[in-house]
Amino acid sequence: TRTILIGAPIDAGQQRPGCLMGPAAYRVAGLAQAISGQGHGVEDWGDLSCPQVVAPPCPNPAVHSLAEVLGWTQILAQKVSDALDDGAMPIILGGDHSLALGTVSGAAAHATSVGRPLFLLWLDAHSDFHTAMTTTSGNLHGTPVAYIAGRAGFEAFPPFPAPVPAERICLYGIRSVDPAEHAALLDHDIAIHDMRVLDEHGVVAPLRLFLEGVRAAGGMLHVSLDVDFLDPAIAPAVGTTVPGGTTFREAHLVMELLHESGLVTSLDLVELNPFLDDRGMTARLMVDLVGSLMGKKVFDRPTRAK
Ligand code: ARG
Ligand code: MN
Ligand code: MN
Ligand code: MN
Repeated sequence: TRTILIGAPIDAGQQRPGCLMGPAAYRVAGLAQAISGQGHGVEDWGDLSCPQVVAPPCPNPAVHSLAEVLGWTQILAQKVSDALDDGAMPIILGGDHSLALGTVSGAAAHATSVGRPLFLLWLDAHSDFHTAMTTTSGNLHGTPVAYIAGRAGFEAFPPFPAPVPAERICLYGIRSVDPAEHAALLDHDIAIHDMRVLDEHGVVAPLRLFLEGVRAAGGMLHVSLDVDFLDPAIAPAVGTTVPGGTTFREAHLVMELLHESGLVTSLDLVELNPFLDDRGMTARLMVDLVGSLMGKKVFDRPTRAK
């Protein structure tokens, strides 16, 4: 696989400073080496900067930093679709989760241009299903899934290129859903593998089910990995920790299954706040997880039964 690293130092989607340092921390933690070590190509496009855009007025006064988020949405959509058009796998180094408003726009535009359906795997403690109208925190990092699913309430944003039907979206690992998000999710046929489901069935079966759907449809798969998917004990460097996250072993297993599927076509690494880290342990763990996603195994068996 040819990978392209795209730095997205954005922190406008929430209100705790520090995510700007995310791309730098991934590079220091050895992201490029973890990928090339598995025999893949790595091209680093460096850090993008945010174009100046003028935001239209937003009817929800809680929303903040709209212009900046719109600027990032525009440039990231462009760069991600460029990387995919190039035949490469873009890996976006965040930056807060609002960057997915742009990255998934780019993936959707590309998927449409090649006539393939796009699927979305959202690895997160949160459902991020607010619209720009329902968010009470005003933090746009809590909105990308709603935008991608084509919900109304994003009139200030460019229309999402090709909304992803609910049946192609999987929320996985969630354990924090606001009331307005909950109400809206009840109206959508999105697969919700919350912690209740993962505790009962384990991490493997629900993920396999989703991946089989992607494979059967000949789909592209965008994976958006939020640091708070992980348990705060092993990943403290995030502003929105929620107890009861995935363990070290579960998270690696998820990545190994994704690798074996061969289906992942683009990846976001989001919400890392290096200022909150403990001697780089979270940045390092995220890099190790990418290693597993790109094929690193404990014991490499020449032939494997599927
Ligand atoms: N639902 C909460 C909000 O809207 C938390 C969102 C957290 N999102 C994230 N990407 N960490 O503020
Ligand atoms: Mn394109
Ligand atoms: Mn998130
Ligand atoms: Mn989250």
